[in-house]
Amino acid sequence: MARPRVLSGIQPTADSFHLGNYLGAVRQWVTLQETHDAFYCVVDLHAITVQTEPAALRRRSRVAAAQLLAAGLDPERATVFVQSHVREHSELAWILNCQTGMGEAARMTQFKDKSAKYGESAASVGLFTYPILQAADILLYQANSVPVGADQKQHLELTRDLGQRFNHRFGDTFTIPEPYILKEVEKITDLQDPSAKMSKSSSSPAGILDVLEQPGPLRKKVMRAVTDTGSEVLFDEENKPGISNLLRIQSALTGVPIPDLVARYEGQGYGTFKKDVAEAVVEAFTPIRERTEKLLGDEAELDKLLAAGAERARAVARRTMAEVRDRVGFLPTL
Ligand code: TYM
Repeated sequence: MARPRVLSGIQPTADSFHLGNYLGAVRQWVTLQETHDAFYCVVDLHAITVQTEPAALRRRSRVAAAQLLAAGLDPERATVFVQSHVREHSELAWILNCQTGMGEAARMTQFKDKSAKYGESAASVGLFTYPILQAADILLYQANSVPVGADQKQHLELTRDLGQRFNHRFGDTFTIPEPYILKEVEKITDLQDPSAKMSKSSSSPAGILDVLEQPGPLRKKVMRAVTDTGSEVLFDEENKPGISNLLRIQSALTGVPIPDLVARYEGQGYGTFKKDVAEAVVEAFTPIRERTEKLLGDEAELDKLLAAGAERARAVARRTMAEVRDRVGFLPTL
């Protein structure tokens, strides 16, 4: 039996991944490469939906790829590639654009949030059709499951709708994917505003823990994380959202269940607990940072790995697109 397939993507829009990306997505990617036929891409086509400096995009795409490998993706086992290297993503996105209703696309909350931020007229059409390109990424590889954080749920719903609609209109073509979301880490929140998700585009620097950050600033940020009234370490999302977020982080990084952590810190106050959280973060990030730096030291080798990944991805993408083209009614190219 063939292994089930997973696909996921991450945007090269910052100089480092953050703790939310790592716990909500990348860590699961690493685990799933053991059991699944895994495809993971750096989604540079998505990154240009907002204004991006070419030099920054180039640098961040390599930094993203290097971090994925440094976090434990093995290019022998998982196909790691850059989205724009596989032209079929854009081609399928166009066809899916033509299957999507304006109203349906307009309901996507990420677009609404981002266009509110940049201003309706400054937001690009690409930003509007962003989720449709994401659907293309997933459907192109006939993925069974898609490991992501909670913020991607709505895009996954759209992907399923578009896949089903296409299958219904043109005949069975696409596998309909399931989201793979781990409840405990689906939404890591901003250290300064525990009501908001940790986000590269909207968190303040003090609210975000970057994977490539040095231990000093990481420790400082955890120690300065907003905590709640009272002094007891308790898991209470409603009344203690800050401490609950730190408990979730500590539990995910150490493997110790939250109730055991609560018992461990009973009567000790926030200080000791935060110090331990800071150490757990530093311990998790330091080896990834060091490996990333090493990988970035040899760009030619990194580019070679990405070229090999793209080659493997293309083989699958071409197969799907040949079928899609035929089903839609495009003439064969002789
Ligand atoms: P992106 O680049 O914003 O984030 C990458 C992954 O990190 C997860 N994530 C979080 N998880 C938990 N807590 C957080 N605070 C947090 N912040 C981010 C995201 O849910 C995501 O899984 N549209 C996607 C990229 C994409 C994609 C795809 C994903 C493009 N094509 C195909 C899956 C399949 C995005 O912007 O992710």
